[in-house]
Amino acid sequence: MSGSATPTSNADAILPVIPSALVEVDVVARWRDGLPAAVPVPDGDGEPELGSCLETFGVDAAVLRALDVSSELGQVRTVPLSGGRFGWAIGSGDGTSGRWRTVGAALARTARSRLEDSDEGGNTPEDLGEALDVEYLQFRLPTDVDEEVVSGLTLGVTLGDYRFRVTQRAAPPRLRKVLLVAETEESAQRLRPVARKAREWAAATALARDLANTPSNIKDPAWLATTAAKTAEHVPGLRATVREEKWLADHGFGGVLAVGGGSSRPPRLLELHWDGGESGAPHLLFVGKGITFDTGGISLKPAEGMEMMRTDMAGGGAVIGAMASIARLGLPLRVTALVPMAENHVSGSAYRPGDVVRHYDGTTTEVANTDAEGRMVMADALGYAVREHHPDMLVDVATLTGAMKVALGLRTGGVFSSEQSLAERVRQAGERVGESWWPMPLPEDHVADVRGTNADVRQAPEGPGAVMAALFLREFTGGLPWAHLDIAGPARAEKNYDEVVAGATGFAARTLVQLAEGLAD
Ligand code: BES
Ligand code: MN
Ligand code: ZN
Repeated sequence: MSGSATPTSNADAILPVIPSALVEVDVVARWRDGLPAAVPVPDGDGEPELGSCLETFGVDAAVLRALDVSSELGQVRTVPLSGGRFGWAIGSGDGTSGRWRTVGAALARTARSRLEDSDEGGNTPEDLGEALDVEYLQFRLPTDVDEEVVSGLTLGVTLGDYRFRVTQRAAPPRLRKVLLVAETEESAQRLRPVARKAREWAAATALARDLANTPSNIKDPAWLATTAAKTAEHVPGLRATVREEKWLADHGFGGVLAVGGGSSRPPRLLELHWDGGESGAPHLLFVGKGITFDTGGISLKPAEGMEMMRTDMAGGGAVIGAMASIARLGLPLRVTALVPMAENHVSGSAYRPGDVVRHYDGTTTEVANTDAEGRMVMADALGYAVREHHPDMLVDVATLTGAMKVALGLRTGGVFSSEQSLAERVRQAGERVGESWWPMPLPEDHVADVRGTNADVRQAPEGPGAVMAALFLREFTGGLPWAHLDIAGPARAEKNYDEVVAGATGFAARTLVQLAEGLAD
């Protein structure tokens, strides 16, 4: 395929490795003496419960107390053992949901910093040998282990260890595999598929992170579309089609062309198809916002913080990550994903405030602000979805409005839906996979404001920002069951917490996987 970008810097020669390698996780029944080990320390009535620690490490309770071993969630203490070996005691708290993600992430981060220290140089070969041991770890599952424990640990270990690097320096040694050790072979067998599925959720999240973290000198629409298509090639049954600008022009994608027109790097539309269902299985359709960089266009954004606008395709990244995992899990339904991709830039060919744009379905939009570009490209894709793909249900994901960050903060996504039951499905899917969603309204009293004067609809009317954007998108959904997920808040993180690593979070990817699984039943 042509369409490669005009080189804008020598970073074009340095490409990130996608997908990032993920830690492996398995559930086993056999404890391996001598393999570096970690055990959880739960809270029992305000006191750390040391039973598992005592048994596993064979040390005195007095030693553990002297080391200040604590049940505080995510607190890690190194317990010295005979022969220069060591174990880790990790506080697992008192029962808050999601705590196992935190525990898994604490384990991964501790192993990582030990491995990175050993890589800094100046260590004796003995030190290095010992440190390298933590490439393989075992973790003692609690006696009351259930599916939530295993999926939480798996997500925490794999995603907490995630790092994005664009460098030609050799990668430091990393954590490769964590064995979750159950008490019996029976329970290991029951829980092994749970770990496998959770690792697939994590793979969806990690691919979404990779794509969103990639800097925009590398990531233009052509790069994003081809990278996603190449990834899909490795997944049996997942079909990818990349539509180029000529096709978009011939088919009337006026919103995508208007937004992409200001950039020297032309727009794309990515289509992914998964058909895992018998006839009669539901057909779910995802649309993800794929703005590879958002300068705001003529309605230029302020400089401060603009660099994070490389993640403005996080919704598209989530959709791409989810599709790969849905296919690998072989979910029995049909899923189509559409990711309209454009770079929102400033130039003599950029679209302007006051322009009237004609979308795929013929609706005309009066542009007010070129920075409201997400809804312009989403409108085309939704119209195309309704007219050409005839899905049973539409779910779109977008870093759509700054207002969403104000409303719900940086850790919760907003769900707007034509049906309360669908919003509730999204919320429950998120709860299962450790992502939090909150329902948002589509108030009728603002609908009139979306109607246009010179054109059919107005792009960015006054009013509550996230709501107005959602009401605009609804115009293109053809009355189908529809959910709109605004992830402008949780798509990025400023610092590490739980299984989240600073940078792009991959938020929504695994919710989409779980939502699809729920609909397939
Ligand atoms: N990509 C932004 C939304 C955004 C802002 C995401 C901050 C993540 C962090 C979107 O394209 C945008 O610029 N929206 C405008 C819309 C406005 C001009 C109507 C906004 O929210 O300010
Ligand atoms: Mn914008
Ligand atoms: Zn944007």
